[in-house]
Amino acid sequence: MHARVVAATVVAILGTAVLLSPGSDARAGDAGEPTVIAHRGASAYAPENTLASIDKAAKLGFSWVENDVQRTKDGKLVVIHDDSLQRTTNVEQVFPGRAPWKVKDFTAAEIARLDAGSWYSPAYAGTRVPTLQQYMRRVEHNHEKLLLEIKNPELYPGIEQQTLKLLGNEGWLDHKHLGRLIVQSFSADSIRTVHKMKPAITTAYLGSPTAAQLHQYARFTDLVNPSYGSLSKAYVAAVHTFDGPHGKPLRVFAWTVNDAATACKVAGYDVDGIITNKPDVVRTALGSD
Ligand code: G3P
Ligand code: CA
Repeated sequence: MHARVVAATVVAILGTAVLLSPGSDARAGDAGEPTVIAHRGASAYAPENTLASIDKAAKLGFSWVENDVQRTKDGKLVVIHDDSLQRTTNVEQVFPGRAPWKVKDFTAAEIARLDAGSWYSPAYAGTRVPTLQQYMRRVEHNHEKLLLEIKNPELYPGIEQQTLKLLGNEGWLDHKHLGRLIVQSFSADSIRTVHKMKPAITTAYLGSPTAAQLHQYARFTDLVNPSYGSLSKAYVAAVHTFDGPHGKPLRVFAWTVNDAATACKVAGYDVDGIITNKPDVVRTALGSD
């Protein structure tokens, strides 16, 4: 091959690597196409927050998944979005006298009896609410990366410490794993606590602080993750002007974008990531198929 062709090929390959690598590491800065994150797993195609939903994301070729962590009556961490078991399990049938079926009022053994798949489709009958430990092991098995949300922390005092302990026990707090982990919450206090306890963790605040507030958030969060409806190009640019606790510009992951037109729109705002129930739709919209 001609030397100039070789050089051009090398440059092209290196260029691709530079474009692809930032979005693939939790600690990376902004460049290239937005990272696509499968929200509650590939939750348009499998029951949300189950092992099936993260298997589905992996099958579709996506490495980043998002989840929600809460706590049972007997202190076990489980992966589920709502503070009640009612919408995504058959708890009403199994425990009819226990309304309003709050996660915090059921033991892990009781929750393990519930069907978390049939509400979505009979094809998923028998799917369970995973414990966080089971979930982390499947994420590891699938070589996935995790945007872990501490959900409703006000209901679960000490959940930050407990979550970090479990992550440490599962080997997720070493340097290698920290590049595949982001911890987020709607609670600034919760994220501040995570940052204080383990400063090496990449953190994300769910919400849209005002431009005037951003400098305060930049002390403890690496990302600001707003609802896509509250976004503008100017806001994303404003967020990007601040450096986070790890000395890199704050990043923005927008949620929850499930159609092509919105994906293109927010990509045009220069967001760093798009959180979606339909990662394949977003990937196609961004032209990365
Ligand atoms: O990751 C963003 C998104 O999960 C926040 O909203 O209610 O789906 O947890 P929610
Ligand atoms: Ca969530």
